[in-house]
Amino acid sequence: MKFEEKEFTLKDGRKCVLKPTSPEYAAEMIEYMKKTPEETPYLLRYPDEVNFTLESEQEILGRLYEDPYSIMMVPIVDGKVAGNGSINGIGTKRKIVHRCSLAIALYKEYWGLGIGKAMIDYMTELAAKIGWKQVDLEVVAENERAQALYKKCGFVETGRRHNALRFDDGTCHDEILMYKEL
Ligand SMILES: CC(C)(COP(=O)(O)OP(=O)(O)OC[C@H]1O[C@@H](n2cnc3c(N)ncnc32)[C@H](O)[C@@H]1OP(=O)(O)O)[C@@H](O)C(=O)NCCC(=O)NCCS
Repeated sequence: MKFEEKEFTLKDGRKCVLKPTSPEYAAEMIEYMKKTPEETPYLLRYPDEVNFTLESEQEILGRLYEDPYSIMMVPIVDGKVAGNGSINGIGTKRKIVHRCSLAIALYKEYWGLGIGKAMIDYMTELAAKIGWKQVDLEVVAENERAQALYKKCGFVETGRRHNALRFDDGTCHDEILMYKEL
């Protein structure tokens, strides 16, 4: 969806602008989807599972940009993409239409600057305006940084999914389920 840009100051004094991830970011998003899983084991995709062409990514971003029920947000620092975040509905059936789901990842060089907090606060504000009542998310049990951020943003732990993820090295990892009421 389209939303107003928001500027704020990072912990190191630089400015960051939060913008809708419009189709012009297609090439940067493909690079981001390939590079961020090399920097952290806590994302769902492996880099070799990113198979988007520039055209297909432009088409997807264009659709999401026009969709009033989809939030895709890109933080820009010094003119560069620092990460991406999204909130999307769980489904269209009436019994679950009150729920949406959040995802976020930043390049490692931008961790610890306050971008995650600013993005989640803005995305959940937009989600409430859209009319969703609850945001859900899953986070790998060992991902303490993300869980600390989510708790700071008002998310509550509500459960655990046993062995939700199986990494290429054969290790299995639980997911923590969290939610925030809007
Ligand atoms: C998770 C992520 C989005 C957090 O965003 P961020 O902008 O880096 O957030 P911050 O570093 O400001 O950390 C938020 C809070 O985590 C806590 N924290 C920071 N470093 C931590 C660490 N090493 N261990 C535990 N908690 C930590 C602090 O409470 C911090 O808040 P504060 O510094 O204001 O006190 C970002 O680190 C990231 O993209 N990680 C890789 C992808 C990922 O894990 N995504 C989430 C998948 S569910």
